[in-house]
Amino acid sequence: METNFNPITQRRLRADRHIRELTASVKLSYKSFIQPLFVDEAITEPREVSGLNEVLVETGNSVLNTIEQNLNNGIAKFLLFPVPAHKKEKDFDFDFAAKSIKKIKETFGEDIWLASDVCLCSYTIHGHCGILNEDHSQLLNSKTVEVLSQYSALLANAGADCIAPSDMTDGRIGAIRNKLDALGYEQVSIMSYAAKFSSQWYGPFRDACHSAPNTKGLQNRKTYQLSPFNINDAIASALRDEKEGADILMVKPAGLYTDVIAKLKQQTLKPLAAYHVSGEYAAIESMAQQNLVNREAAHIETWAALTRAGADIIISYVSKHAKQWIEEIAY
Ligand code: PBG
Ligand code: ZN
Repeated sequence: METNFNPITQRRLRADRHIRELTASVKLSYKSFIQPLFVDEAITEPREVSGLNEVLVETGNSVLNTIEQNLNNGIAKFLLFPVPAHKKEKDFDFDFAAKSIKKIKETFGEDIWLASDVCLCSYTIHGHCGILNEDHSQLLNSKTVEVLSQYSALLANAGADCIAPSDMTDGRIGAIRNKLDALGYEQVSIMSYAAKFSSQWYGPFRDACHSAPNTKGLQNRKTYQLSPFNINDAIASALRDEKEGADILMVKPAGLYTDVIAKLKQQTLKPLAAYHVSGEYAAIESMAQQNLVNREAAHIETWAALTRAGADIIISYVSKHAKQWIEEIAY
């Protein structure tokens, strides 16, 4: 007796890379990628950072070559982290940051889109993201917001296309927006680190920026960055930033917080950026170096996950390879 059993097949959709590519429910484009850049006032030669394979902390000059190379790879959007030579309690010197942006924008103009991180943790002696009280037991909100607004204005004046505040104090997006508008920088956008968690995964970055908290007072960032146990605070903080005028909302870290990306996506029409942070990057790189994962495929899989969750923009330390890898390896 013949059987008429006709199992439903899904495997035809997986048969080769062409049909996988055609039928993919999410697609990647290198146009969605932002490459982070570090510039350090105190160095005369580019410096390597443990864990940040292929990423150098640049000098004010060497960063120009790196941008050029990225442009040749099709990557034109950047997030700059300026590191000053001297650390202080207050009265910070933002000159190097402004000059770096000016030089970059004078060199590349509209060929690139340049966002600058705005935070104080690489400027402060104690490594916190804002100004602390005398015994270093508390981060002072309004004093910090005031300084961040002034800093943002200097960066906008230097030519930054976007201001990206990563400090997580209350009210800074509104204050920065007001300041920029009052000075005529209405066209400069704000990418808010809107849902930024207090995380173990920023380690290599803090080495790059010399920005780890180091005081007997506040010993971590838990009083201003989000708790991994509180998604309600994450959504509320991000929607608050939207109301205050943020143009792009960022979730960070990325891979452990895809639930936050997905939930936020349902509650906002603003574009979402996912920052695959230094420790997440280092984890993949170190496994790849031990031949425990395929490097390219592991990054691509991460990007697919972030995109499925709802990210419109991906910030990755290997953005500079995104075009080639997506074209040649993805799907
Ligand atoms: C500073 C800042 C951090 C990152 C971006 N801006 C680290 C921190 O909050 O300590 C992390 C980026 C990364 O790890 O790649 N406010
Ligand atoms: Zn900071």
